[in-house]
Amino acid sequence: MAMPSALGALEKTFNRSPLTRINDPLFRQRTVELWLKRDDLLHPVISGNKWRKLKYSLQHALSLGADTLISMGGAYSNHLHALAYTGHVLGLKTIGFIRGGQPNVLTPSLADMRGWGMELKFVSRTDYRQLRLYKHWQALPGIKPGQYWLPEGGAQTLALPGIAELVHELDSPYDVLCVPCGTGTTLAGLIAAAPAKASIIGFAALKNAGFLTAEIAALLEQQQDNWQVNLDYHFGGFAKTNAQLMAFITAFETRTAIPLEPVYTGKMLYGLYDLLKKDYFSAGQRIIAIHTGGLQGNRGFGD
Ligand SMILES: Cc1ncc(COP(=O)(O)O)c(C=O)c1O
Repeated sequence: MAMPSALGALEKTFNRSPLTRINDPLFRQRTVELWLKRDDLLHPVISGNKWRKLKYSLQHALSLGADTLISMGGAYSNHLHALAYTGHVLGLKTIGFIRGGQPNVLTPSLADMRGWGMELKFVSRTDYRQLRLYKHWQALPGIKPGQYWLPEGGAQTLALPGIAELVHELDSPYDVLCVPCGTGTTLAGLIAAAPAKASIIGFAALKNAGFLTAEIAALLEQQQDNWQVNLDYHFGGFAKTNAQLMAFITAFETRTAIPLEPVYTGKMLYGLYDLLKKDYFSAGQRIIAIHTGGLQGNRGFGD
């Protein structure tokens, strides 16, 4: 499928994200290497895994002649934030179903979305859960011609080829790939594209995320056994934090000058360091962890 010119022009505004070695004594002592794929630096607005996941769905939507993109997310959603901006740049209408009632004051993320022309529809948590069930681009009840539905987090098989592009950019050898998980779509993309000898670990950002394993398997064409979802570092639930996590993030940022956020990449790195201290990794192993961006969400943590 040819890339529509508007999408090609948008893609030209992206940087290749660097792969950076984290030269931390803790890793050096155990002769384990940690590298970070800095997808937070892909683009000033559409950071991290958002573009990776959206690109081929957008191509599909444009090839169908869609003029409206509809999706769902929370009041700090990185996915909706990226979608609203993309719609603005591509000249497409966007509609976002937002979890929970309308706040008196819009969060900075919602204000950006509205500023880029997204129509915000606030829905109850019950209705939001119902929307999660619609997983195909036409599945939204009442969808009209020209409208294209993107499931929560852009989770559909069309997200996978974009994530494969990230894997193909990794120009340093590795034994382990790590990524934070919300819907698990980014993890599925890594599993599908990485060599079978690599181990792939997803770190769940939410509590009780055991269901993710089946959802990820459903996105994969081939079943493999070189991956797992670690459920131990959710810190009480989605977007929940504690002083220990925040202190870890501050110390990491100070040592490396790499900004983190506490919802996804911060939790993954905390988990990685903890597993390292527990000698989970073997001497000589090289780990590449994906920084999935989402730094705009830091505005929800008052810094
Ligand atoms: C910054 C960030 N990292 C990681 C994820 C998790 O990605 P996935 O839903 O593909 O597991 C998300 C959510 O989409 C996100 O916004």
